[in-house]
Amino acid sequence: MNSYTIPNDEIQAAAALLRAGETVAFPTETVYGLGADASNPLAVRKIFEIKGRPNYHPLIVHIAAASQLPAWAQSIPDAAWRLAETFWPGPLTLILQRSSQVPNEVTGGQDTVGLRVPDHPVATALLRAFGGGIAAPSANRFGQVSPTTAQHVHDKLGSRVGMILDGGPCRIGVESTIVSLAHGEAVLLRPGGLSVEAIEDTLNKKILLAQPAASKVHASGMLASHYAPTTPIEIHPADELWRRAHQLANLGYKVAVLNLSDNSKRVGSGGITSFQMPLLADEYGRELYATLHRIDHARFDRLLAEAPPSTQEWVAINDRMRRAAQGTANENKISVAGDLPAHDGIKK
Ligand code: TXA
Ligand code: MG
Repeated sequence: MNSYTIPNDEIQAAAALLRAGETVAFPTETVYGLGADASNPLAVRKIFEIKGRPNYHPLIVHIAAASQLPAWAQSIPDAAWRLAETFWPGPLTLILQRSSQVPNEVTGGQDTVGLRVPDHPVATALLRAFGGGIAAPSANRFGQVSPTTAQHVHDKLGSRVGMILDGGPCRIGVESTIVSLAHGEAVLLRPGGLSVEAIEDTLNKKILLAQPAASKVHASGMLASHYAPTTPIEIHPADELWRRAHQLANLGYKVAVLNLSDNSKRVGSGGITSFQMPLLADEYGRELYATLHRIDHARFDRLLAEAPPSTQEWVAINDRMRRAAQGTANENKISVAGDLPAHDGIKK
Protein backbone atom coordinates (compact mmCIF):
# COMPACT_ATOMS: atom_id res chain seq x y z
CA MET A 1 0.00 0.00 0.00
CA ASN A 2 1.06 3.54 -0.67
CA SER A 3 0.93 5.48 2.57
CA TYR A 4 0.78 8.93 0.99
CA THR A 5 -2.24 10.96 1.94
CA ILE A 6 -3.21 14.46 0.94
CA PRO A 7 -5.20 16.89 3.10
CA ASN A 8 -8.89 16.68 2.39
CA ASP A 9 -9.15 20.37 1.42
CA GLU A 10 -6.65 19.76 -1.39
CA ILE A 11 -8.71 16.81 -2.64
CA GLN A 12 -11.87 18.95 -2.47
CA ALA A 13 -10.14 21.75 -4.39
CA ALA A 14 -9.04 19.26 -7.07
CA ALA A 15 -12.58 17.87 -7.35
CA ALA A 16 -13.93 21.42 -7.70
CA LEU A 17 -11.46 22.09 -10.54
CA LEU A 18 -12.64 18.94 -12.32
CA ARG A 19 -16.24 20.06 -11.93
CA ALA A 20 -15.27 23.44 -13.41
CA GLY A 21 -13.89 21.68 -16.51
CA GLU A 22 -10.20 22.05 -15.61
CA THR A 23 -7.45 19.42 -15.58
CA VAL A 24 -5.88 17.78 -12.53
CA ALA A 25 -2.79 15.54 -12.57
CA PHE A 26 -3.02 12.77 -9.98
CA PRO A 27 -1.03 9.73 -8.88
CA THR A 28 -2.07 6.14 -9.53
CA GLU A 29 -0.24 2.93 -8.65
CA THR A 30 1.08 2.72 -12.24
CA VAL A 31 1.95 6.25 -13.47
CA TYR A 32 0.58 9.77 -12.96
CA GLY A 33 -2.56 10.59 -14.95
CA LEU A 34 -3.70 13.87 -16.49
CA GLY A 35 -7.37 13.94 -15.54
CA ALA A 36 -10.50 15.77 -16.63
CA ASP A 37 -14.25 15.24 -16.19
CA ALA A 38 -14.97 12.33 -18.56
CA SER A 39 -18.53 13.54 -19.17
CA ASN A 40 -17.41 17.03 -20.26
CA PRO A 41 -16.19 17.14 -23.90
CA LEU A 42 -14.60 20.58 -23.53
CA ALA A 43 -12.64 19.47 -20.47
CA VAL A 44 -11.50 16.31 -22.25
CA ARG A 45 -10.28 18.36 -25.20
CA LYS A 46 -7.92 20.20 -22.86
CA ILE A 47 -6.15 16.91 -22.16
CA PHE A 48 -5.40 16.45 -25.86
CA GLU A 49 -4.12 20.02 -26.16
CA ILE A 50 -1.84 19.73 -23.14
CA LYS A 51 -0.48 16.34 -24.22
CA GLY A 52 -0.13 17.20 -27.89
CA ARG A 53 -1.96 13.94 -28.53
CA PRO A 54 -3.88 13.18 -31.75
CA ASN A 55 -7.58 13.33 -30.91
CA TYR A 56 -8.39 9.89 -32.31
CA HIS A 57 -6.43 8.25 -29.47
CA PRO A 58 -8.96 7.13 -26.85
CA LEU A 59 -8.58 7.83 -23.14
CA ILE A 60 -9.09 5.56 -20.15
CA VAL A 61 -11.98 6.52 -17.87
CA HIS A 62 -11.05 6.08 -14.20
CA ILE A 63 -13.87 5.20 -11.82
CA ALA A 64 -14.08 4.74 -8.03
CA ALA A 65 -15.52 1.22 -8.07
CA ALA A 66 -16.64 -1.57 -10.39
CA SER A 67 -20.24 -0.80 -9.44
CA GLN A 68 -19.98 2.30 -11.69
CA LEU A 69 -19.22 0.16 -14.78
CA PRO A 70 -22.81 0.13 -16.12
CA ALA A 71 -22.82 3.94 -16.37
CA TRP A 72 -19.96 3.80 -18.89
CA ALA A 73 -20.22 0.40 -20.58
CA GLN A 74 -22.95 -1.88 -21.91
CA SER A 75 -23.26 -5.57 -22.79
CA ILE A 76 -20.69 -6.24 -20.10
CA PRO A 77 -19.68 -9.93 -20.35
CA ASP A 78 -19.31 -12.13 -17.25
CA ALA A 79 -15.58 -12.37 -17.91
CA ALA A 80 -15.27 -8.60 -17.47
CA TRP A 81 -17.10 -8.71 -14.15
CA ARG A 82 -14.86 -11.55 -13.01
CA LEU A 83 -11.70 -9.60 -13.90
CA ALA A 84 -13.03 -6.42 -12.31
CA GLU A 85 -13.94 -8.21 -9.09
CA THR A 86 -10.58 -9.95 -8.94
CA PHE A 87 -8.19 -7.16 -9.93
CA TRP A 88 -9.84 -3.82 -9.16
CA PRO A 89 -8.65 -1.61 -7.73
CA GLY A 90 -5.49 -2.40 -9.68
CA PRO A 91 -3.37 -2.08 -12.83
CA LEU A 92 -5.91 -3.51 -15.29
CA THR A 93 -7.83 -1.56 -17.95
CA LEU A 94 -10.87 -3.22 -19.51
CA ILE A 95 -12.03 -2.25 -22.99
CA LEU A 96 -15.81 -2.70 -23.29
CA GLN A 97 -18.71 -1.58 -25.45
CA ARG A 98 -19.34 2.05 -24.57
CA SER A 99 -22.63 3.28 -23.13
CA SER A 100 -24.46 6.15 -24.79
CA GLN A 101 -23.31 8.66 -22.15
CA VAL A 102 -19.61 8.40 -23.10
CA PRO A 103 -18.57 11.44 -25.17
CA ASN A 104 -16.84 10.85 -28.53
CA GLU A 105 -13.93 12.93 -27.28
CA VAL A 106 -13.12 10.17 -24.75
CA THR A 107 -13.32 7.22 -27.11
CA GLY A 108 -11.77 8.83 -30.17
CA GLY A 109 -15.05 8.06 -31.93
CA GLN A 110 -14.75 4.29 -31.34
CA ASP A 111 -17.68 2.22 -30.07
CA THR A 112 -15.64 0.99 -27.12
CA VAL A 113 -14.37 2.57 -23.91
CA GLY A 114 -11.42 1.84 -21.60
CA LEU A 115 -12.20 1.65 -17.87
CA ARG A 116 -10.11 1.20 -14.78
CA VAL A 117 -10.31 1.52 -10.98
CA PRO A 118 -6.87 2.72 -9.85
CA ASP A 119 -5.27 1.51 -6.62
CA HIS A 120 -3.85 4.61 -4.97
CA PRO A 121 -5.28 6.37 -1.90
CA VAL A 122 -5.05 9.81 -3.53
CA ALA A 123 -6.74 8.65 -6.75
CA THR A 124 -9.45 6.92 -4.71
CA ALA A 125 -10.04 10.02 -2.58
CA LEU A 126 -10.23 12.21 -5.70
CA LEU A 127 -12.62 9.86 -7.50
CA ARG A 128 -14.89 9.68 -4.44
CA ALA A 129 -14.88 13.43 -3.91
CA PHE A 130 -15.57 14.09 -7.58
CA GLY A 131 -18.17 11.35 -7.91
CA GLY A 132 -17.98 10.90 -11.70
CA GLY A 133 -15.52 9.31 -14.10
CA ILE A 134 -12.12 10.91 -14.69
CA ALA A 135 -10.69 10.55 -18.20
CA ALA A 136 -6.92 10.38 -17.89
CA PRO A 137 -4.01 9.39 -20.06
CA SER A 138 -0.51 9.32 -18.60
CA ALA A 139 0.52 12.89 -17.73
CA ASN A 140 3.29 13.28 -20.31
CA ARG A 141 3.60 14.79 -23.78
CA PHE A 142 2.45 12.32 -26.45
CA GLY A 143 5.07 9.66 -27.22
CA GLN A 144 7.33 10.53 -24.30
CA VAL A 145 8.18 8.70 -21.10
CA SER A 146 5.34 8.50 -18.54
CA PRO A 147 5.73 10.33 -15.22
CA THR A 148 6.12 8.33 -12.01
CA THR A 149 6.53 11.32 -9.66
CA ALA A 150 4.75 14.67 -9.30
CA GLN A 151 8.07 16.34 -10.14
CA HIS A 152 8.11 14.60 -13.56
CA VAL A 153 4.66 16.07 -14.28
CA HIS A 154 5.86 19.48 -13.13
CA ASP A 155 8.95 19.32 -15.34
CA LYS A 156 7.07 18.29 -18.49
CA LEU A 157 3.60 19.87 -18.22
CA GLY A 158 4.06 22.37 -15.39
CA SER A 159 1.81 25.40 -15.46
CA ARG A 160 -0.43 24.01 -18.19
CA VAL A 161 -2.16 21.70 -15.70
CA GLY A 162 -4.83 23.11 -13.34
CA MET A 163 -3.37 21.31 -10.32
CA ILE A 164 -0.86 18.53 -9.62
CA LEU A 165 -1.60 16.23 -6.67
CA ASP A 166 1.59 14.78 -5.20
CA GLY A 167 1.10 11.20 -4.03
CA GLY A 168 4.75 10.18 -3.98
CA PRO A 169 6.51 7.84 -6.41
CA CYS A 170 4.27 5.30 -8.18
CA ARG A 171 4.41 1.80 -6.69
CA ILE A 172 4.33 -0.10 -10.01
CA GLY A 173 5.87 2.41 -12.41
CA VAL A 174 4.66 0.78 -15.64
CA GLU A 175 1.22 1.44 -17.16
CA SER A 176 -1.79 -0.82 -16.69
CA THR A 177 -2.36 -4.03 -18.63
CA ILE A 178 -5.08 -3.45 -21.24
CA VAL A 179 -7.50 -6.28 -22.09
CA SER A 180 -10.35 -5.91 -24.54
CA LEU A 181 -13.57 -7.83 -23.94
CA ALA A 182 -15.53 -5.68 -26.35
CA HIS A 183 -15.81 -8.29 -29.09
CA GLY A 184 -16.17 -11.64 -27.33
CA GLU A 185 -12.78 -13.24 -26.69
CA ALA A 186 -10.33 -11.54 -24.31
CA VAL A 187 -7.55 -9.83 -26.26
CA LEU A 188 -4.38 -8.35 -24.78
CA LEU A 189 -3.82 -4.84 -26.18
CA ARG A 190 -0.93 -3.81 -23.94
CA PRO A 191 1.12 -5.80 -21.40
CA GLY A 192 1.51 -3.89 -18.14
CA GLY A 193 1.45 -3.89 -14.37
CA LEU A 194 -0.80 -6.95 -14.08
CA SER A 195 0.61 -10.22 -15.43
CA VAL A 196 -1.09 -12.01 -18.30
CA GLU A 197 -0.89 -15.27 -16.34
CA ALA A 198 -2.93 -13.81 -13.48
CA ILE A 199 -5.61 -12.83 -15.98
CA GLU A 200 -5.53 -16.23 -17.67
CA ASP A 201 -5.79 -17.98 -14.30
CA THR A 202 -8.90 -15.99 -13.49
CA LEU A 203 -10.53 -16.55 -16.88
CA ASN A 204 -9.32 -20.14 -16.95
CA LYS A 205 -8.20 -19.80 -20.56
CA LYS A 206 -5.46 -18.29 -22.70
CA ILE A 207 -5.97 -14.76 -23.88
CA LEU A 208 -5.23 -13.70 -27.44
CA LEU A 209 -2.56 -11.21 -28.42
CA ALA A 210 -3.66 -8.23 -30.49
CA GLN A 211 -2.18 -8.06 -33.96
CA PRO A 212 -1.28 -4.37 -34.30
CA ALA A 213 -1.16 -4.33 -38.08
CA ALA A 214 -4.47 -6.11 -38.54
CA SER A 215 -6.23 -4.32 -35.71
CA LYS A 216 -8.35 -1.26 -36.25
CA VAL A 217 -8.05 -0.39 -32.58
CA HIS A 218 -6.22 2.82 -31.85
CA ALA A 219 -4.08 2.26 -28.79
CA SER A 220 -0.96 4.33 -28.43
CA GLY A 221 0.36 1.41 -26.43
CA MET A 222 0.37 -0.44 -29.75
CA LEU A 223 2.48 2.03 -31.67
CA ALA A 224 5.87 0.51 -32.43
CA SER A 225 7.60 3.59 -31.09
CA HIS A 226 6.30 5.08 -27.88
CA TYR A 227 7.33 5.75 -24.31
CA ALA A 228 10.54 7.16 -25.77
CA PRO A 229 13.06 9.33 -23.94
CA THR A 230 14.94 11.99 -25.88
CA THR A 231 18.29 10.22 -25.39
CA PRO A 232 18.73 7.63 -28.17
CA ILE A 233 18.57 4.08 -26.77
CA GLU A 234 20.23 0.86 -27.84
CA ILE A 235 19.54 -2.52 -26.22
CA HIS A 236 22.36 -5.06 -26.09
CA PRO A 237 23.04 -8.41 -24.44
CA ALA A 238 25.41 -8.20 -21.44
CA ASP A 239 28.49 -9.41 -23.32
CA GLU A 240 28.05 -6.82 -26.06
CA LEU A 241 27.05 -3.90 -23.85
CA TRP A 242 30.45 -2.77 -22.62
CA ARG A 243 32.25 -3.26 -25.91
CA ARG A 244 29.72 -0.90 -27.45
CA ALA A 245 29.91 1.54 -24.51
CA HIS A 246 33.69 1.83 -24.87
CA GLN A 247 33.43 2.14 -28.63
CA LEU A 248 31.08 5.11 -28.30
CA ALA A 249 32.99 6.66 -25.39
CA ASN A 250 36.18 6.52 -27.46
CA LEU A 251 34.38 8.51 -30.12
CA GLY A 252 33.62 11.18 -27.52
CA TYR A 253 30.02 10.24 -26.75
CA LYS A 254 28.67 10.77 -23.25
CA VAL A 255 27.24 7.30 -22.60
CA ALA A 256 24.77 6.10 -19.96
CA VAL A 257 24.67 2.37 -19.31
CA LEU A 258 21.63 0.71 -17.74
CA ASN A 259 23.06 -2.50 -16.44
CA LEU A 260 21.62 -5.53 -14.71
CA SER A 261 24.81 -7.55 -14.27
CA ASP A 262 27.43 -6.38 -11.83
CA ASN A 263 29.65 -4.34 -14.06
CA SER A 264 31.16 -2.12 -11.40
CA LYS A 265 34.69 -3.08 -12.38
CA ARG A 266 34.15 -2.38 -16.04
CA VAL A 267 33.26 1.31 -16.02
CA GLY A 268 36.90 2.44 -16.04
CA SER A 269 36.85 4.83 -18.93
CA GLY A 270 35.71 8.43 -18.90
CA GLY A 271 32.50 9.29 -20.64
CA ILE A 272 30.57 6.28 -19.33
CA THR A 273 28.14 6.48 -16.42
CA SER A 274 26.65 3.25 -15.20
CA PHE A 275 23.15 2.99 -13.69
CA GLN A 276 22.80 -0.28 -11.79
CA MET A 277 19.20 -1.50 -12.22
CA PRO A 278 17.38 -3.87 -9.81
CA LEU A 279 17.46 -7.57 -10.66
CA LEU A 280 13.80 -8.12 -9.78
CA ALA A 281 11.30 -7.19 -12.49
CA ASP A 282 8.94 -5.43 -10.03
CA GLU A 283 11.70 -3.19 -8.73
CA TYR A 284 13.12 -2.61 -12.18
CA GLY A 285 9.69 -1.52 -13.41
CA ARG A 286 9.29 0.88 -10.49
CA GLU A 287 12.61 2.58 -11.28
CA LEU A 288 12.69 2.44 -15.08
CA TYR A 289 10.89 5.67 -16.02
CA ALA A 290 12.49 7.68 -13.21
CA THR A 291 15.90 6.53 -14.45
CA LEU A 292 15.03 7.46 -18.05
CA HIS A 293 13.87 10.92 -16.89
CA ARG A 294 17.15 11.35 -14.98
CA ILE A 295 19.22 10.32 -18.00
CA ASP A 296 17.31 12.76 -20.24
CA HIS A 297 17.96 15.54 -17.73
CA ALA A 298 21.68 14.85 -17.67
CA ARG A 299 21.87 15.10 -21.47
CA PHE A 300 23.67 11.91 -22.38
CA ASP A 301 24.37 11.29 -26.08
CA ARG A 302 23.36 7.64 -25.92
CA LEU A 303 21.75 5.21 -23.52
CA LEU A 304 22.85 1.59 -23.71
CA ALA A 305 20.53 -0.79 -21.88
CA GLU A 306 21.40 -4.35 -21.00
CA ALA A 307 18.66 -6.58 -22.44
CA PRO A 308 16.42 -7.75 -19.56
CA PRO A 309 15.57 -11.47 -19.25
CA SER A 310 12.85 -12.65 -21.61
CA THR A 311 10.78 -14.44 -18.95
CA GLN A 312 7.13 -13.69 -18.14
CA GLU A 313 7.70 -11.17 -15.35
CA TRP A 314 9.67 -9.00 -17.76
CA VAL A 315 7.14 -8.86 -20.59
CA ALA A 316 5.86 -5.33 -19.87
CA ILE A 317 9.37 -3.97 -19.28
CA ASN A 318 10.72 -5.53 -22.49
CA ASP A 319 7.73 -4.10 -24.34
CA ARG A 320 8.41 -0.54 -23.10
CA MET A 321 12.18 -0.81 -23.67
CA ARG A 322 11.67 -2.01 -27.24
CA ARG A 323 9.30 0.83 -28.02
CA ALA A 324 11.59 3.38 -26.40
CA ALA A 325 14.54 2.14 -28.47
CA GLN A 326 12.39 2.03 -31.59
CA GLY A 327 11.24 5.60 -31.00
CA THR A 328 14.69 7.01 -30.64
CA ALA A 329 16.07 4.87 -33.46
CA ASN A 330 13.35 6.16 -35.77
CA GLU A 331 14.03 9.73 -34.86
CA ASN A 332 17.77 9.47 -35.06
CA LYS A 333 18.30 6.81 -37.69
CA ILE A 334 20.65 4.76 -35.56
CA SER A 335 21.19 1.04 -35.64
CA VAL A 336 19.70 -0.56 -32.56
CA ALA A 337 22.14 -3.43 -32.34
CA GLY A 338 25.35 -4.41 -33.99
CA ASP A 339 28.19 -2.32 -35.24
CA LEU A 340 28.49 1.38 -35.37
CA PRO A 341 27.60 2.67 -38.82
CA ALA A 342 30.50 4.36 -40.61
CA HIS A 343 28.85 7.68 -39.96
CA ASP A 344 25.61 7.79 -38.01
CA GLY A 345 25.51 11.52 -37.49
CA ILE A 346 24.25 11.19 -33.96
CA LYS A 347 26.74 13.26 -32.01
CA LYS A 348 24.91 16.31 -30.69
O1 TXA B 1 -1.75 2.82 -16.11
C1 TXA B 1 -2.40 3.42 -16.95
O2 TXA B 1 -3.14 2.85 -17.76
C2 TXA B 1 -2.29 4.95 -16.96
C3 TXA B 1 -2.90 5.50 -15.68
C4 TXA B 1 -2.93 7.01 -15.65
O3 TXA B 1 -4.18 4.97 -15.53
N1 TXA B 1 -2.92 5.50 -18.12
C5 TXA B 1 -2.41 5.37 -19.34
O4 TXA B 1 -3.14 6.08 -20.29
O5 TXA B 1 -1.41 4.74 -19.60
P1 TXA B 1 -2.62 6.32 -21.76
O6 TXA B 1 -3.69 7.15 -22.42
O7 TXA B 1 -1.27 6.87 -21.73
O8 TXA B 1 -2.69 4.91 -22.37
C6 TXA B 1 -3.93 4.28 -22.44
C7 TXA B 1 -4.01 3.36 -23.59
C8 TXA B 1 -3.77 4.05 -24.90
O9 TXA B 1 -2.88 3.25 -25.63
C9 TXA B 1 -5.16 4.10 -25.51
O10 TXA B 1 -5.12 4.15 -26.89
C10 TXA B 1 -5.76 2.82 -24.96
O11 TXA B 1 -5.33 2.81 -23.64
N2 TXA B 1 -7.21 2.85 -24.99
C11 TXA B 1 -8.04 3.67 -24.31
N3 TXA B 1 -9.31 3.45 -24.68
C12 TXA B 1 -9.30 2.48 -25.62
C13 TXA B 1 -10.29 1.84 -26.42
N4 TXA B 1 -11.56 2.15 -26.32
N5 TXA B 1 -9.87 0.89 -27.27
C14 TXA B 1 -8.57 0.56 -27.39
N6 TXA B 1 -7.58 1.14 -26.66
C15 TXA B 1 -7.94 2.09 -25.81
MG1 MG C 1 0.66 7.21 -22.15
